[in-house]
Amino acid sequence: MEVLGDAEVLAERAADLIGDALREKPNLSVLVATGHTPMATYAELALRGLDASRLTAVQLDEYLGVGEDDPRSLWGWMRRSFVEPLGVKQVVRLGDAPDPDEACRRYESEVAALSGIDLAVLGLGPNGHLGFNEPLCGPGARTRVVTLTPASLASNAAYWGDLPVPSRALTAGMDVILSARRIILLVSGSHKRDILARALREPPTPEVPASWLQGANTTVLADRAAWGGAQGRAFP
Ligand code: F6R
Repeated sequence: MEVLGDAEVLAERAADLIGDALREKPNLSVLVATGHTPMATYAELALRGLDASRLTAVQLDEYLGVGEDDPRSLWGWMRRSFVEPLGVKQVVRLGDAPDPDEACRRYESEVAALSGIDLAVLGLGPNGHLGFNEPLCGPGARTRVVTLTPASLASNAAYWGDLPVPSRALTAGMDVILSARRIILLVSGSHKRDILARALREPPTPEVPASWLQGANTTVLADRAAWGGAQGRAFP
């Protein structure tokens, strides 16, 4: 757990950690969150001139029934913010098959073919979700179709202006996330303070999916606004 002064310092620190991981393993596989929080980190990373040509970027989640040309496509957001600026050449997509169950199966086998995820870069949902693993969610939840909770519909509405938020999505399973060899959870802003404290303090519970990170190799990077002084349990 590291508490950084503000969102800018957090982004620099996160870019340091991701950059170090990439230098150490040029063929790194990275699970890539979209959402507002990691955007400054990705922008900072892109400034650093790293060679990401052997990195594989793995999509974390996608709305169901949203094509890649739709402005709400999370793949489109990941491509614009991470894949293109960093010059990434290999990607594992989620949701690019017409049948959602087939898309999940294909995704799981492509992740397995990579020998799993080296690094997961995640944001924290307002209800404790990771990807779209909404409460209630156990640690073994597979990659699947989910229905978004009201809290996630509300937070995602901030991304798309007047466009409606799709009510269903595909998400990387909690099993995929938790098996990542390293996880960096980025948390910024006072609106995340209560849920971060719950994720850190409560014994792992399906009510706060992010609390399962306590049992994984997780580094939490929080800015001061998000840090309420909660005492971490098992986080390094
Ligand atoms: C996005 C995602 C979500 C977000 C979370 C936090 O791909 O999977 O779990 O990381 O909702 O979103 P922000 O960063 O916008 O607060």
